[in-house]
Amino acid sequence: MKRVLLFILPILIIVTLSFTIFGIMQVKFTEERLMDDLKRKARTVDESLELSARYILRDNDLKSANRLVESFQNRERLQGCVIYDKNGQILAITKRISDWKNKEKPYISDILTTKNSRGTLEKFGYYSVYSYILPVLDDEENVLGLVEVIYDTSYLFTTLTELWRRISISLIILILAITLVASLIQRQIFILPVRRLTQWFMHFQKGETEKLRPFEEKGEFGKLISEVEQVALSLRVARKVVTEDAHVRVQNEGLWTESKLKDLVRAKLGENALVVVSNREPYLHITDEVTGIVKCTRPASGVVTAIDPILRACGGTWIAHGAANADRKFVNSKNKLGVPPEDTRYILKRVWLSKEEENGYYYGFSNEGLWPLCHITHTRPIFRETDWLMYKKVNQKFADSVLEELPAKNPFVFIQDYHFTLLAKFIKEKRPDATIALFWHIPWPNPESFAICPYQKEILEGMLSCDLIGFHVQFHCNNFLDTTNRLIECRVDTEKFSVVRGNKETLVRAFPISVDGYTYGKTSKSETDQINKIRKDLELENKITAVSVERIDYTKGIIERILAIDRFLEKYPQYKNRFVFIQLAAPSRIHIKRYHELIGEIDELVEKVNWKYSDGNWKPIIYLKRHFSPEEIRPYYMLGDFCIVSSLHDGMNLVAKEYVASKNNSNGALILSCFTGASRELTDAIQINPYSIEEFADAIKFAIEMPLEEKRKRMENMRKVVAENNVYLWAANIISELTGLKKT
Ligand code: G6P
Repeated sequence: MKRVLLFILPILIIVTLSFTIFGIMQVKFTEERLMDDLKRKARTVDESLELSARYILRDNDLKSANRLVESFQNRERLQGCVIYDKNGQILAITKRISDWKNKEKPYISDILTTKNSRGTLEKFGYYSVYSYILPVLDDEENVLGLVEVIYDTSYLFTTLTELWRRISISLIILILAITLVASLIQRQIFILPVRRLTQWFMHFQKGETEKLRPFEEKGEFGKLISEVEQVALSLRVARKVVTEDAHVRVQNEGLWTESKLKDLVRAKLGENALVVVSNREPYLHITDEVTGIVKCTRPASGVVTAIDPILRACGGTWIAHGAANADRKFVNSKNKLGVPPEDTRYILKRVWLSKEEENGYYYGFSNEGLWPLCHITHTRPIFRETDWLMYKKVNQKFADSVLEELPAKNPFVFIQDYHFTLLAKFIKEKRPDATIALFWHIPWPNPESFAICPYQKEILEGMLSCDLIGFHVQFHCNNFLDTTNRLIECRVDTEKFSVVRGNKETLVRAFPISVDGYTYGKTSKSETDQINKIRKDLELENKITAVSVERIDYTKGIIERILAIDRFLEKYPQYKNRFVFIQLAAPSRIHIKRYHELIGEIDELVEKVNWKYSDGNWKPIIYLKRHFSPEEIRPYYMLGDFCIVSSLHDGMNLVAKEYVASKNNSNGALILSCFTGASRELTDAIQINPYSIEEFADAIKFAIEMPLEEKRKRMENMRKVVAENNVYLWAANIISELTGLKKT
């Protein structure tokens, strides 16, 4: 109420003052106009009487004089008329104003002398009257007498009072209208939005709404709403993380767990301080083009598989490209949302890229240039200057987005992968106090291979702005040190395992990435149902089943795998009708020619092999080409008698570890390419060279025929490795290493 008054009172004062001034002027003007009117009328009447009065006075005709004055007896405003003789004595007077006789009239003698007419306002009893008096002259200009008319002026007062009344009523109506309108406006502009914002905040905190933006608003209020949105999101995420805390602690304390990692992060970095950057976002909002329904899905990405559990445990902010078609609909004014959507644990901040930016930076430089450069698969890297310029531009764009999120003190940034070799440099230009780690999720080639990149120097210099660079395996660390040593001016410290350039030292370390191994507990009822359903739908009863899961990528050795299956069935025909291979394959990077071609090649080969062996009821390969969520993939892992990972080159390969983590009955085998990082740790897998089709085919037979006892033993050993070296240990090692470098 007080605020409403503060808002309305000045308006009312101004309006009242203006209206009063206007009223006074209006009344004054009306008064003058009415007076002029009256004077004019009085003069006209008086002048019209002059001729009759001349005869009356000349003939001293008293009778006519009385008749004349009495003719005014019943006029409304004209009160009466007086005829004076040449001495100023009253000869005749209208009866109604007979008391006028007694009034002192000093002006009479003046008029008789000067012979000038005169009009004045006079007091007559309680009234005010207007008298107009005119000398009556003969032909020689001698005064015969005077004629006076008396007008009642009280109507003037009544008219002016009425005018004032109307002005006052208008003013009151105006004041009421202004008060009403101002209150409504105030309610509309201030009170309702604040009420809506408050309600949204309350519902959002209680988890009763998933709307990330209360409503759109521009200007200062919009800025306030935006700030409230960010606080609400952080609070909600923080609250969630705290409530989960106690629950997670009961897990096996000997292993690295979510809670242990969370404690470490809190102790070393502080609450919610982790800022992670990757190109691929962990949650995509996709509108189905046919049904129009929006779904939130997890992409097929090793980076997402590994980092999502860490941020779920520790909270923080993950900055990534908002690439999906409905992503923009699910963010607040700062492009943020809480994820996972059903259980918000951390903040995802989406960065928007134009089509040109995505083409140049993502499809072009990252995936047609750096990706084949780093993987030894004999796919020629393509480097275009335009792609490189876009790559730089997008790295700068991400840097700006990261800089907005950094706390005032001791910021830590954890960058993922080859999409961001220049990001650390751009961040440090503005925030040299930031401690930055980059994890390279793919292999690092030898110096000769890397040297074909025309932008080698800028890339290496950009990467060396980091404080820590991590690779999956020591071999890739060595390759990186060799590369820097050969291609740029720097000093490689082989004892500390670091690269020194000027005053800047960058540590290079191997951190084998993993999955959240210990969480894959007992098989639930719904999982058993799903497994049975898949078995039934795909007719897998009494079949030996192998599974593979991946993005359709030329590095994954999918073609070699199908060739090996072909050779296996050719060489060991006893397995016809008894063996089924299920390939779950998510189309990936389809706008790149090589990927597009690969999809066609695989389709053709699968078709060819199935045609070769199928007998009407059975075909060896079930090729399921679509995106599968982690929840959909798990039953396939569980039902697979063995899993095939045949990458031609792979930084780590988390499918291998996921399969092992899923095999809670230890009844399964893993065929694993020796060109994956995972093969260094999972030494109990059946290791293969995927280029050797013969060896590969024999490995399939070996996996099928392996005695159950041995299978179990190998799987248990691998499960132990995955459980112990899980992704929480991976993150803990990186964070400990990083905070060890923290500037004071
Ligand atoms: C590899 C890369 C990741 C990437 C993933 C999926 O694992 O290391 O950075 O996210 O492939 O590729 P995409 O291009 O679909 O993100």
